[in-house]
Amino acid sequence: MDALKCVLFLLTVANWCESANILYVVPFTSKSHYIMLKPIGLELARRGHNVTVITGHKHPNPPPNYRQVMVDDREIWDVIGGIPNVFDMVQASTETFHHNILWKGGLAFTELVLNSKEVKQFLAEDNKFDLVINEQFFQESLYVLAHKYNAPLALVTTFGNCMRHNIVVRNPLQLSTVLSEFLTVEDPTSFSGRLKNLYFTIYEYVYWRFWYLEEQEKFVKKYIKGLREPVPSLYDLQKNVSLMLVNSHFSFDPPAAYLPNVVEIGGSHLIRSNTTLPADLQKVLDNAKHGAVYMNFGSNVRSTEMPEEKKKAVINVFRKLKQTILWKWEDDNFENKPDNLIVRKWMPQNEILAHPNIKVFISHGGLIGTQEATYNGVPLIGIPIYADQYNNLLQAQSLGYAKILQYDDINEETLYKLLNEVLTNDSYVEKAKEMSRRFKDRPLSPLDTAMFWIEYVIRNNGAEYWKNPALELSWIAAHMIDVYLFILGVVLLILYVIVKVVSIVFSALSGTSKPKKQKTKRS
Ligand SMILES: *[C@@H]1O[C@H](CO)[C@@H](O)[C@H](O)[C@H]1NC(C)=O
Ligand SMILES: *[C@@H]1O[C@H](CO)[C@@H](O)[C@H](O)[C@H]1NC(C)=O
Ligand SMILES: *[C@@H]1O[C@H](CO)[C@@H](O)[C@H](O)[C@H]1NC(C)=O
Ligand SMILES: *[C@@H]1O[C@H](CO)[C@@H](O)[C@H](O)[C@H]1NC(C)=O
Repeated sequence: MDALKCVLFLLTVANWCESANILYVVPFTSKSHYIMLKPIGLELARRGHNVTVITGHKHPNPPPNYRQVMVDDREIWDVIGGIPNVFDMVQASTETFHHNILWKGGLAFTELVLNSKEVKQFLAEDNKFDLVINEQFFQESLYVLAHKYNAPLALVTTFGNCMRHNIVVRNPLQLSTVLSEFLTVEDPTSFSGRLKNLYFTIYEYVYWRFWYLEEQEKFVKKYIKGLREPVPSLYDLQKNVSLMLVNSHFSFDPPAAYLPNVVEIGGSHLIRSNTTLPADLQKVLDNAKHGAVYMNFGSNVRSTEMPEEKKKAVINVFRKLKQTILWKWEDDNFENKPDNLIVRKWMPQNEILAHPNIKVFISHGGLIGTQEATYNGVPLIGIPIYADQYNNLLQAQSLGYAKILQYDDINEETLYKLLNEVLTNDSYVEKAKEMSRRFKDRPLSPLDTAMFWIEYVIRNNGAEYWKNPALELSWIAAHMIDVYLFILGVVLLILYVIVKVVSIVFSALSGTSKPKKQKTKRS
């Protein structure tokens, strides 16, 4: 026993000795991003690393080795000039969404981060880091911090597979099965689906690489002074990234080939979450003898802004149900509230979905919420609004535990019919339970997987050796274009020779008859 204790002690000490200085750059203020990113930073600190986090959300009681550098507290909507009614975005094309929200918002937001008082003070300090972890979203200029601190760079996405990243690090694109993350396509593997995917991937890449990244480079020059020369481009920094953690998992997302340094950690925010419900909600759900329906459109969409006739339709449907309904509703007033409806401005979502009486989740299909439903085995009725929501729901629908209801089609009849179907047909809940089991069936929990590979990169000083060797090659060589062109040339040459030989033989054979014909013609 003492020997065991001794070993355990030594292991703990050994672990402690490996504790590293980590800079965790996750400034984006959107709540859904933070839900996924927070546990990674806190877990690193729990494991004894000295974590400095640049963030938009203050953790109320951080451990002493978790230092928070705060970004000025402003919502993404304020930064891009006014809060839109998110429901209006249903009509926006993927291109419009990129121009008006992602790119416009990304630039404004990055500038806000670099202008934040605490961030400026922090950048002026003299610090050393063993690893810089950045959120991979629309704030690339912050990647330069890896160069500033002469540390390897790791990235983490809150959405799944990232096409831009695949192109930069030469991960296979697999455009026939892997869809560009924010592109809405009804049948991704059909000819038109694949054509659209190719078009959009090129469109997004060209804009990003030749315009957006250039804009981000300007921020580097303007705000991050005193960098060691030569300063690598943001493109080269991303190309040289040591690790990419993606919020996906093959049990849910389409299986895809990944380089060893692209690691799936989908569901990492779910493992150590707090499963205690507030007492009032616990009681409501315990007493829901016909089960309960949970409706929440996520942190960015306010149900109160739903157009009047849709709101009325939803409420009328709820009135007809015998189930208890929980709805995230952002207003103090609720006129004519049905008795079975409970509204709250905020809902502890994962804890609610974990309650056995929850029968169905009416969701906008955000990835975090969809993963929470999957994890807890709850069927979905999905009303996609923007970004990757349609794709997440389409995936869940094809796996048999979700039904998509298009926003424009919402009325009393359609919603009631769908709810009734999902509530009464057991196949949805059975599929959801099976998905939950598959989603959890892994050698290591997703959060521990993230920890292992982050520490691996630190232990191995950025692990140069596991990056794709194709990064050393030119674009043409990496994609075998020269070899294919050579083979095409040889084939064409052979065809040319054959045609030539055949025509010579023919003309030789017909050599005697030709003049005859000419003669007869002339005569
Ligand atoms: C932890 O990181 C901060 C940088 O934010 C640094 O000032 C501090 O000295 C570090 N602490 C240790 C024990 O390395
Ligand atoms: C879990 O949630 C309950 C109720 O909201 C709260 O009282 C408790 O402090 C939380 N526990 C942790 C570990 O966050
Ligand atoms: C339940 O739903 C499944 C999948 O949509 C369908 O195949 C099955 O026929 C339905 N069962 C009943 C009883 O409606
Ligand atoms: C790439 O990153 C490694 C650390 O992972 C660093 O040692 C190396 O100098 C970088 N190479 C380039 C070309 O930036």
